[in-house]
Amino acid sequence: MKILIVGSGSREHALARAIMASPLCSALYCAPGNGGLAADGVTCVPIKASDVGALSDFATAAAFDLVVVAPDDPLVMGLVDALEARGIPAFGPTKKAAAIEGSKVFAKGLMGRLGIPTAQYKSFWEPSAALHHIRSLNEWPIVIKADGLALGKGVVIAQNMDEAESAIRLMMEDKVFGKSGDGVVVEEFLSGPEVSVLAFCDGTHLVPMISAMDHKRAYDGNQGPNTGGMGVVAPNPHYTPEMAERCMREIFLPTLRGMAAEGIPFKGCLYFGLMLTAHGPVVIEYNCRFGDPETQAVLPLLESDLVEIMLACREGRLVEMDIRWKDGCAACLVLSSGGYPGPYPIGLPIRGLDKTGQLPGSDLTVYHAGSKREYETDFVTAGGRVLGLSGTGGDLHDALEKVYTGAGQISFDGMHYRRDIGKDG
Ligand code: AMP
Ligand code: GLY
Repeated sequence: MKILIVGSGSREHALARAIMASPLCSALYCAPGNGGLAADGVTCVPIKASDVGALSDFATAAAFDLVVVAPDDPLVMGLVDALEARGIPAFGPTKKAAAIEGSKVFAKGLMGRLGIPTAQYKSFWEPSAALHHIRSLNEWPIVIKADGLALGKGVVIAQNMDEAESAIRLMMEDKVFGKSGDGVVVEEFLSGPEVSVLAFCDGTHLVPMISAMDHKRAYDGNQGPNTGGMGVVAPNPHYTPEMAERCMREIFLPTLRGMAAEGIPFKGCLYFGLMLTAHGPVVIEYNCRFGDPETQAVLPLLESDLVEIMLACREGRLVEMDIRWKDGCAACLVLSSGGYPGPYPIGLPIRGLDKTGQLPGSDLTVYHAGSKREYETDFVTAGGRVLGLSGTGGDLHDALEKVYTGAGQISFDGMHYRRDIGKDG
């Protein structure tokens, strides 16, 4: 099969590794891809992941047998619908189903209708109404979320009225996230360990993958600004088999069945962002796609053929699949540019990698995110999160020791990584 992955991060690199391991895959392309994917033998095509028209034209002309749409924006913009309409098989939800991530107001409404546990909330489309509401509150902090996609920056935890007011004005009046701030959700602040569960879905059946624990803050001890994710361990040490069973019953199945009953069956990878509160598990957010960097720790533990599973999801045959996982644990450590998630320099030489972009003599996998290949052999930084080092081991300690040893062998000016990934486990 000739397969195209849409996207360019280290999540896409992890998807590419798993897809290349399938005997079904005979040729792999990525749009736009990155330096590490190119060094791995993936043909990178310079089309932006959000250019739905150009991607549909390219996929049709090149007659792909499968297109895997990884990032949120092309899914929310309807790339899967556009491809399927032209007869190109695509893995991922339709535009309507992707609204589970694309609109927080929609996701909260769905959870309300289906009785799925989530934070108490109110949604607003007028800044004056939102401001009036927060002025009536007397418990802080509260959480303010832009309705639409905002590059992971659309959530503000406001400690007081001033912070809440300024968040609402920035989103709804100054439009810092564009149309994504036309609506906002104001919700109660909850606390507890967070768990990411990705699940394969075929519209009616759902198979959860191994759970994961992301580390969203930039610095050790969960300090500093929120990022796209600085590291992950899998499985999540807080997620017991009893909790998994409860989440299946109270959250996963009701979500999937509810969407099907409302005429928007979800096919693809559904990401449940959960918080384990004192009163039980709640949904903090849904994503309509594989998580980044969760995927870089979860897929290395997958024993079954990812392409077969993706085809089964698309064709409604998930129930036939026997999805197997390897024993043990995995960790992914993100090496970021100094300054990320704020401004950072690019074009800095990365030392320690071989010409395929991997660590010589190591069984770690180096997933590339913000890297660029120069002169076919050298890599330079090209983004905020530059590399993800992914390792597996018999237990969490083994996996973490491997990735931290690997981090000591790679360097670029200003390189930053957290020293405490998985410590809480
Ligand atoms: P999101 O972009 O929706 O994943 O939110 C980013 C982060 O904000 C989450 O991972 C949580 O740590 C935090 N968060 C979101 N909603 C809440 C909430 N209701 N209570 C506490 N923390 C929250
Ligand atoms: N790791 C969080 C996300 O993919 O949104």
